[in-house]
Amino acid sequence: MSNELILRDVVEDDLAIFFEQELDQEANYMAAFIAKDPSDRAAFMAHWHKILADEKVIIQTIIFDGKVAGSVLSYEDERKLQVSYWIGREYWGMGIATRALSEFLANNNKIRPIYARVAKDNLGSRCVLKKSGFTIISESKAFANARGQEIIELLLEKDEE
Ligand SMILES: CC(C)(COP(=O)(O)OP(=O)(O)OC[C@H]1O[C@@H](n2cnc3c(N)ncnc32)[C@H](O)[C@@H]1OP(=O)(O)O)[C@@H](O)C(=O)NCCC(=O)NCCS
Repeated sequence: MSNELILRDVVEDDLAIFFEQELDQEANYMAAFIAKDPSDRAAFMAHWHKILADEKVIIQTIIFDGKVAGSVLSYEDERKLQVSYWIGREYWGMGIATRALSEFLANNNKIRPIYARVAKDNLGSRCVLKKSGFTIISESKAFANARGQEIIELLLEKDEE
């Protein structure tokens, strides 16, 4: 294994892999703010086709050692440019999210400020964001589908580089 990581445009065949990766229960608990029913394949595909067609959304597939390891994207929400990412569980703990986000911010979306939202208890994602230069600017309560209740969500900002 060379631990090579590249970002490339999403192709149709990636979507079935993302769907499987985003079914994982622990991942869904961590991410918290997810679709109402992650097992609804038709809704998942419709959502992805919609965001892939949206020119304001930039999405890249993360390829690690030649395999689809996850996705990283930016989108606009409440007039704020935001990033998000998802790594397949078998690839966790290898620095992939940190490398992919840093590459994405350096080459795919250089607009600043850029923001991220994360469940306060998603320590892995908070660590990834901190390493990429995001700092917490506020916290609020929001309903999390994966938890069936309101939880604390952090808003983070990166305003340079
Ligand atoms: C959160 C997530 C993106 C982390 O991906 P990853 O590739 O494993 O992250 P990295 O390997 O780059 O880890 C970065 C740091 O976070 C730490 N970390 C990773 N997962 C962690 C966890 N569950 N708890 C605590 N720390 C964690 C790592 O130890 C590492 O720190 P270190 O470099 O000081 O050792 C991945 O678990 C995931 O996709 N989860 C489900 C979806 C999700 O939560 N997306 C983000 C929504 S805001």
